Amino acid sequence: MNERPSSGSRLDPWVDSYAQRAKNVSGSAIRALFSVASRPEVVSLAGGMPYVQALSMDHMADVAARVVREQGARALQYGSGQGDIHLREQILDITAEVGIRAHPDDIIVTTGSQMALDLVTRTFCDPGDVVLVESPSYVGALGVFRSYECDIVHVAMDDDGLVPNALRETIDSVRAQGKRIKLLYTIPSFQNPTGVTQPAERRPEILEIAQSAGIAVLEDDPYGLLGFEGDPPRALRADDDQGVIYLGSFSKTIASGLRVGWAIAPHGVREKLVLAAEAATLCPSNYSQLTVSEYLATQPWREQIKSFREVYRERRDALLDSLQAMMPEGTRWTIPAGGFYSWVTLPDGLDATAMLPRAVAELVAYVPGTGFYVDGQGVSNMRLSYCYPEPDRIREGVRRLSSVVESELEIARTFGTASAASPGSPTAPGESSTPGPDVA
Ligand SMILES: Cc1ncc(COP(=O)(O)O)c(C=O)c1O
Repeated sequence: MNERPSSGSRLDPWVDSYAQRAKNVSGSAIRALFSVASRPEVVSLAGGMPYVQALSMDHMADVAARVVREQGARALQYGSGQGDIHLREQILDITAEVGIRAHPDDIIVTTGSQMALDLVTRTFCDPGDVVLVESPSYVGALGVFRSYECDIVHVAMDDDGLVPNALRETIDSVRAQGKRIKLLYTIPSFQNPTGVTQPAERRPEILEIAQSAGIAVLEDDPYGLLGFEGDPPRALRADDDQGVIYLGSFSKTIASGLRVGWAIAPHGVREKLVLAAEAATLCPSNYSQLTVSEYLATQPWREQIKSFREVYRERRDALLDSLQAMMPEGTRWTIPAGGFYSWVTLPDGLDATAMLPRAVAELVAYVPGTGFYVDGQGVSNMRLSYCYPEPDRIREGVRRLSSVVESELEIARTFGTASAASPGSPTAPGESSTPGPDVA
């Protein structure tokens, strides 16, 4: 017999059947707005999409064809839950660039580093456990922590990233409330969303604080090789192989569509992660892994990363120069030395969330700052991404944005307040959990 739940709503009869953790996950109204923002006439400074067009598609096609022709029976089959051993060995060449020395057994390959975030949280956190995060932090990670019902606590940042004293004080005050802190989640290099980087001098202090407090560090490093000057910053994991779980990804250095990332973890943690991964997906895609492996073996990947860096540096410059030339006085922004993002602070009194529908109407999009916090901070902030649009489009986007900001300022001067957030405005605090892949 076909029995339906008797409660629920007409729109979704299963609404009362969902687990508590699913109730914590909601698509924000921002998502709806971004379906409009993805139209070609809109300059999107919102999405964190890598510019995969910088790859040679002919070479990628050759790589993929060779994988199927020469290793098809393996590529199209199930594989190891921990990931392909040869790829794990190759990953060590990449992580050596950020100073990490490890063994292939320390690595688990995942479906993007997003999956690794999920596995680590699932393995460490019970509902109510505290996860310390930067202020602001990556939307996709906040969504994972929220979905496991973690208590997310922000730690202050400055232009050099996480502030050590603030970290100490936060640990003390959280513990004074009798709460358990399970993880310190940090993106030390070219952070999403601010673009800032912890300098080498600050990193040992952060490690020391976490070590002496007995808190595992979850280091997320998808942008570490995309610095615009000098060598890649040394990873936290390079100086602590027992206290740090390191996440890496090929999304930004090869292609996000391959969905191949990895975690490097201490032995016991890694075993738990493999079991959790097998429960989730049995194994990562052999086809994607072998494609990455073949690419690394046959293509000049270091040269390709260099050319990605050049593409992104040119776009960063286009963004910063046009912000400097066009944004009204009182606007501030970070100067990223790598990665994809700059973090903008609007002049006093302006609300980036309330302003977004107006910006989209003027054919420019960004991500409002509140999405990167769980506590309602970020009202006057926005994240601008320069990774995807061509430099001329970036300049045009900033031109449109600056005129929207100018007119908000005009309204504020005339009426004493800019366009107010309404119940229908794009986000409310805590609504950031599922930004959608194009906004991540
Ligand atoms: C800081 C950070 N971590 C993780 C991810 C997820 O990356 P992946 O494509 O490897 O799942 C992103 C994607 O934008 C990111 O910015």
